[in-house]
Amino acid sequence: MKLPYLADNQLTALCKRLQGQGYGALKDLLREQGKTPFDEGSVIPTLDSSYKENGYQYLFYALTRLLQPERIVEIGVLQGFSLLSMGCALKANGRGEFHAFDLFEEYEFKCDNFDNVSSRVSTMGLDKMVTLHQADASSVTGLIEETDMLHVDISNNGDIIGEIFSQWASRTSRIMIFEGGSLERDRVEWMVKYRKRSLYDKFMELDKNEAGWDFFTISPFPSVTIAVNVKYES
Ligand SMILES: C[S@@+](CC[C@H](N)C(=O)[O-])C[C@H]1O[C@@H](n2cnc3c(N)ncnc32)[C@H](O)[C@@H]1O
Repeated sequence: MKLPYLADNQLTALCKRLQGQGYGALKDLLREQGKTPFDEGSVIPTLDSSYKENGYQYLFYALTRLLQPERIVEIGVLQGFSLLSMGCALKANGRGEFHAFDLFEEYEFKCDNFDNVSSRVSTMGLDKMVTLHQADASSVTGLIEETDMLHVDISNNGDIIGEIFSQWASRTSRIMIFEGGSLERDRVEWMVKYRKRSLYDKFMELDKNEAGWDFFTISPFPSVTIAVNVKYES
């Protein structure tokens, strides 16, 4: 299997930033996934997700294996594609907890219901690690004090990124993963139609102003921007 982002310069830069980690290099972990994917035969490849076409489940899995987080928070679950991918990596790590938040059936656009996602979590044997919460993104900081990894995927736009980044910068010890950040992602139909603020511009602004964070945008669609806490060293 070919992972298009393996050739991305920003992935190489991210690998260098994280290369001091004890558990092998990120690219090695990704190449391993190319040969023996963790999700083979599971429900994950059958789920609906914009991340699927370019194999981002392997990046989520590899980052979670590499960083060995004690806690992951995800905001924006849909059917559980990214949740189950990182959840499987936590299981392989043998430790860590995962709190995942979504409006589920209360969301007015494309969504899945709580019970469906909950049953996928059980089928994958992830009950012990994963807790699902039906809650709005704005309420999560009232429920969770801090995390090692944060993943944000709630139909992101520049305004949402700005808000979530400022809420979580002091609460996230290692990395934040945001869906989007490329110019191509800014041009998707609903971003243009509803004149949503550019994610690309927002990340450029954050990169310039937030000395405590390093930003890497990996381009293959839908693109992913990873912010690494400068305090996080191997
Ligand atoms: C693009 S999907 C998430 C995709 C998923 N991460 C994946 O791997 O395929 C966006 C999700 O965000 C949820 N959502 C949208 N706005 C939200 C909000 N304000 N608070 C919590 N969840 C929200 C929707 O219910 C939907 O399930």
